[in-house]
Amino acid sequence: MADDSDLRDRIAVVTGGGSGLGAAMGHELARVGMAVGVLDIDEANATAVAKALADQFGVPTFGGQVDVGDTASVTAAAAAVERALGGCDVLCANVGVQQFGAIDRLTEDDWKWVVNVNILGTVRTVAAFLPMLRAREGLRRILLTASSGALIPGVRLGAYQTSKYAVVGYGETLRQELADEGIGVMIVFPAGMMTRHLESSKLARPAEIGEWVLAPDDIDAMMASRSTGDEHVATPEHAVRNLIADLVDDQPYLITHGAYRDQYHEQLAVLEAAFDRMERS
Ligand SMILES: NC(=O)c1ccc[n+]([C@@H]2O[C@H](COP(=O)([O-])OP(=O)(O)OC[C@H]3O[C@@H](n4cnc5c(N)ncnc54)[C@H](O)[C@@H]3O)[C@@H](O)[C@H]2O)c1
Repeated sequence: MADDSDLRDRIAVVTGGGSGLGAAMGHELARVGMAVGVLDIDEANATAVAKALADQFGVPTFGGQVDVGDTASVTAAAAAVERALGGCDVLCANVGVQQFGAIDRLTEDDWKWVVNVNILGTVRTVAAFLPMLRAREGLRRILLTASSGALIPGVRLGAYQTSKYAVVGYGETLRQELADEGIGVMIVFPAGMMTRHLESSKLARPAEIGEWVLAPDDIDAMMASRSTGDEHVATPEHAVRNLIADLVDDQPYLITHGAYRDQYHEQLAVLEAAFDRMERS
């Protein structure tokens, strides 16, 4: 049976690794002895996290810049990781930006930005690193960060939630297509976390598409429509507590925290009822 030691001396890459959940993932991967490539649009944060991991765990690390919204940038970052660390066994495609907004307030530019970074950014990241995983043997995984929003929808999350549903759809197909090659795919569903997510989204939004806007009641309205609950907002460190075990076990899903299981089941019951009506007709 596989255990943590199967990850030792292998190579991990985390996008969006400069803070929050990505930095916490990097910490877990370095803790079990992996070399870690930390990529982020914020180069200073990426290099600082990479240095901290090398200092704390004595593993090889690399910190560099990537904009997953840009194909040339992702290609260049993948080449830089390959030069610095020699390849990739575990890829964490973790970048996601948030743009709150009621459906009738989200602009076409809002949609294009969120779709380009969250969906196409994930697709580009996997496309750039998959050849490296394929060139290696043994334990290999791709981890995609979705969101609890892709399991229980909420208001004001239209663009973000749509993008995270797409990440799930992409991940499901990817898992099926890579199964014969022994490359596992795990989809992560975090609920609310105390991170820089709103700040980093605001910073990463291209200036030419206008200012990042958050209406005063967006977050309260979103929270009221979902059952994850204020009291269940977690630290990223808590969210990754089962990451290594589930990665090694090749689990398809990682639910990190949050009290939304009942709401999820209520939704499934509505879907089941639609099957019942179809079968009775
Ligand atoms: N914070 C939450 O409540 C929450 C909940 C569910 C899912 N998530 C998801 O978790 C993931 C990590 O977010 P987080 O909460 O740790 O936020 P975070 O802001 O701490 O980390 C996100 C990182 O992504 C980077 N980034 C943004 N745009 C980028 C781009 N175009 N290219 C490369 N890097 C880019 C940011 O600089 C930042 O360092 C995201 O996919 C997010 O959607 C977050």
